[in-house]
Amino acid sequence: MKVFTENKSIQTFIAQLKTKGNTVGMVPTMGALHYGHMSLVNRAFKENDWIVVSIFVNPTQFNNLEDLKNYPRTLERDKELLKSQSENILIYAPSIEDIYQGNTKSQHFDFDGLESEMEGMFREGHFDGVGTVVKRLLEIVKPDNAYFGEKDFQQLMIIKKLVEKYNIPVNIVGCKIYREDNGLAMSSRNERLKLAYKNEAPFIYKTLMKAKKMFKTESANSTKKWVENQFLNNKLLKLEYFVIADIETLKMVKRKSSQNKYRAFIAVYADDVRLIDNIALN
Ligand code: PAJ
Repeated sequence: MKVFTENKSIQTFIAQLKTKGNTVGMVPTMGALHYGHMSLVNRAFKENDWIVVSIFVNPTQFNNLEDLKNYPRTLERDKELLKSQSENILIYAPSIEDIYQGNTKSQHFDFDGLESEMEGMFREGHFDGVGTVVKRLLEIVKPDNAYFGEKDFQQLMIIKKLVEKYNIPVNIVGCKIYREDNGLAMSSRNERLKLAYKNEAPFIYKTLMKAKKMFKTESANSTKKWVENQFLNNKLLKLEYFVIADIETLKMVKRKSSQNKYRAFIAVYADDVRLIDNIALN
């Protein structure tokens, strides 16, 4: 395992690997690694000779300063965890300066409307920040394959669009959501949940599964109403949104069609911790 903090030195190292014919997979993260991240790392190992895990809490994708301040940072633990996986692993843990070079601002992107739905509606500028940092990371590392979780399904779709629009030569691989045994989608933010909220949080996935069942016979609208009601009756979890959307456009479904694929997306506040999840419906 090797740790890099500067783009120039990791670029030189990767260029050497590539001249020897190695393939490189990349897993971009913001650290505080958990089994969800590790499932991406394991997949990347199966499909590449070397892998790069970037660990960078990207300031431009936080629309809330408190959230940025409270975001867990566990670099030493992350390194230990990755070290136990394989020799052929590079960690890129840059400073803000190394990524942004004195201009900590987002580029503005047009992702053909994907950026205005759901997370884009509630987290202004978020996807400009994500697009800016992922574009920069892909330009630095130039991986053959880059791995992203369906946990952030909208982000995954946006990154596919980014790569297509800017002709970035990388294969984007989407990976399944990794859950706790109780169904709660793993997230770095789960660490911040106080006990009562942690115990209640599996309610989110339970409700998604019931919604999936319901959507087989009911309309999108009545499924949505039912979910909203479930949360009105929940004292600890506050629903921000529940949306059933077409997986291609991410636009809310008005009328179901058997030709389209749908997913349900949810954002919930457990105290001050914001949790998101989603589920395939058909
Ligand atoms: P982060 O939240 O650290 O997530 C890094 C990657 O791990 C993302 O692709 C995310 O979808 C995936 N991931 C997180 N939890 C997961 C789970 N339970 N199951 C499967 N995959 C999971 O997403 C980001 O960082 C940032 O926005 C980033 C892309 C690094 C840009 O800053």
